[in-house]
Amino acid sequence: MKPTRSLYVIFVIFLLVFSTLAVKPPQQHLDVEARVNALLAKMTLEEKLGQLQQLDGEGNGTFRPEHLELARKGLLGSTLNVRGAKQVNQLQHVAVDESRLKIPILFGYDVIHGYRTIFPIPLAQASSWDPAVAERASTIAAKETYATGLRWTFAPMVDIARDPRWGRITEGAGEDPYLGSAFARAQVNGFQGSNYNTPNKILACAKHFVGYGAAEGGRDYNTTEISENTLRSVYLPPFKAAVDAGVGTLMSAFNDLNGVPTSANHFTLTKLLRDEWKFEGFVVSDYTAVKELINHGYAANDAEAAQKSLSAGVDMEMVSRTFNQYGPTLLKEGRLSQKEIDEAVKRILRIKFRLGLFDHPFADETLEQNAFLTPDSRAAARELAARSMVLLKNNNNALPLNKSVASIAVIGPLADDNRAPLGWWSSDGKDADTVTPLQGLKNKVSAQTKINYAKGCEISGDSKSGFQDAVTAANNSEVAIVFVGEAKEMVGEAASRSTLNLPGVQLDLVKAIQATGKSTIVVLVNGRPPTIGWIVENVPAILESWMGGTESGNAIADILFGDVNPGGKLPVTFPRDVGQVPIYYNHMNTGRPPDPASRFNSKYQDLPSTPQFPFGFGLSYTKFEVANVQLSADRIPLNGSVKVTADVKNVGQRAGDEVAQLYIRDVAASVTRPVKELKGFQRVSLQPGETKRVEFTLDPERLSIWNSELKFVVEPGEFKVMVGTSSEQLIEKTLTVERR
Ligand code: BGC
Repeated sequence: MKPTRSLYVIFVIFLLVFSTLAVKPPQQHLDVEARVNALLAKMTLEEKLGQLQQLDGEGNGTFRPEHLELARKGLLGSTLNVRGAKQVNQLQHVAVDESRLKIPILFGYDVIHGYRTIFPIPLAQASSWDPAVAERASTIAAKETYATGLRWTFAPMVDIARDPRWGRITEGAGEDPYLGSAFARAQVNGFQGSNYNTPNKILACAKHFVGYGAAEGGRDYNTTEISENTLRSVYLPPFKAAVDAGVGTLMSAFNDLNGVPTSANHFTLTKLLRDEWKFEGFVVSDYTAVKELINHGYAANDAEAAQKSLSAGVDMEMVSRTFNQYGPTLLKEGRLSQKEIDEAVKRILRIKFRLGLFDHPFADETLEQNAFLTPDSRAAARELAARSMVLLKNNNNALPLNKSVASIAVIGPLADDNRAPLGWWSSDGKDADTVTPLQGLKNKVSAQTKINYAKGCEISGDSKSGFQDAVTAANNSEVAIVFVGEAKEMVGEAASRSTLNLPGVQLDLVKAIQATGKSTIVVLVNGRPPTIGWIVENVPAILESWMGGTESGNAIADILFGDVNPGGKLPVTFPRDVGQVPIYYNHMNTGRPPDPASRFNSKYQDLPSTPQFPFGFGLSYTKFEVANVQLSADRIPLNGSVKVTADVKNVGQRAGDEVAQLYIRDVAASVTRPVKELKGFQRVSLQPGETKRVEFTLDPERLSIWNSELKFVVEPGEFKVMVGTSSEQLIEKTLTVERR
């Protein structure tokens, strides 16, 4: 062998060995890219634009003749709201059997906290401070959804919300980016599993990208103005967590962000999402959000709306049709490039391939028979609902109730309401499936306990004609439980409120019952933080049950009678008055923090600065103590980590759960930092007398801030490290981060 030849052979062998050893994308993804490119090469411009179109179905979940026609021509990329395995298959058959390129349709739907078995609203799930709750709820929701032929949900909603006037606060995990990120991750994992191309798994969609929760005045769809630092520190982390967890899609939002609507925002959709975060999935616009660019005053007409949105990074247009109508002209005029269109098509096809839609486009029509509301799903809904409730007050152990109680008055417009507990976005949940509180209590007590039910009043309206019956029911009973709160329609999209008080005459009803002198318990059924100052001052026990889903009545009864010891904590601050809003625990300190003793500082003349209930707050039927908070080191190098440990002890008489919470404060930095920031939490179950040691790690990721140059770095100096049982019950230590 000549030396040159042998060198060549060695080189080839080296290349072969190296190429097998080098880190490669999984084979499946390579195949996908090849298949995407091969398909794209065959597509006409019209077919390409068709993939970018998502159309709505009819109100009852069916499709229209137009859908069939478009599917036949290969011009329908996706639908929303069309569902039911038969329906889906019928339309899919037209796309796959009759269209030229046989590209399957992607069927999406809003499955937010359950499909038919409805779990607690997301804000409630976050109150569990147990991401496993959200993962389990999303897992079951995915299974039911899959059975109906759907392969995509527009969830999780991961918008941080600091304003309870905004009705959509109900759909997210509350006000904190760290807790919100944990719940975002959990939901993506629940819906998608480790591979969404698996039976019973569906594609998730993190929404609404981004800043939608900061709508001015809490008015839905309103403008937002968020500095880049706040965007990165507060609003983006849950989206980043969803992307890191592998979420397949994102939804661009309705809101204008700093002058550029989010459905045409190149900075968020391309620079951040694609260039920085390397997101490989696709972005769908929110409902007609592309066309709404005209109302925003950001586009003069439909053509400009299409151009600005698509080139900013929206791939699929929900409901409005500007991409399809104006794509060809924009391309011809050079206002959109072929590459921009192709990239959007590729992103959508990539997800369709990864989802296995080309290989298994049709739904198994037999699955629906046994998929919904199984005993297991109902049991999970009951357990998760109870795990999500928060005990706000319990003077003199008013709760739990004794099972031998002779009579209970069950009062209030939400006592036997089967709609409200399902909350906003209840998919195909049915009111008739709901276990109301009244039913739950009946299920719980023995025949010896008499239940005296009186509605008392409506949720809204000013009639007090039912009060007398309610007062009589209370007078005839040992205890009175009053169920007050919000109707289903008062929360969710386009359901902003300018007051957080209990609607109608509900507070007067509570007052009338309290005036009877009977032991009175208030159970809240609501979807946002309410203002309930009078109740907090006057009623001995308050349970926040939220909108707890299909099994909420049973879960409430489990808690009221002590079969489950409540362990939830608030994921959002409860204000004393709407005038305090926005009020959130992780605020800046200001130069003049509130000080009741002096005059010129940041406070209200007519209201304390403190909240009614702080973030992270929640009681139990037992008592806990946190002690022995220790740092593994008082000083760490610049990029070092420290372990934080603490003992949590159950010092009461019952088994129960406590949530140990870790907060930090970066005392002086190149930009001002919040007075507290959650950096760890752990829900632990403890027997009476039992102690558990919890351990957290503060690593560079958790100690980093977006600094004055918008770099994510640890800045040396002093940090307060706090551990406790709410954002206001904390033991503090000091940590110093060295310069190097
Ligand atoms: C909402 C989205 C939802 C979409 C489709 C919009 O109005 O903002 O959250 O996914 O409708 O139903």
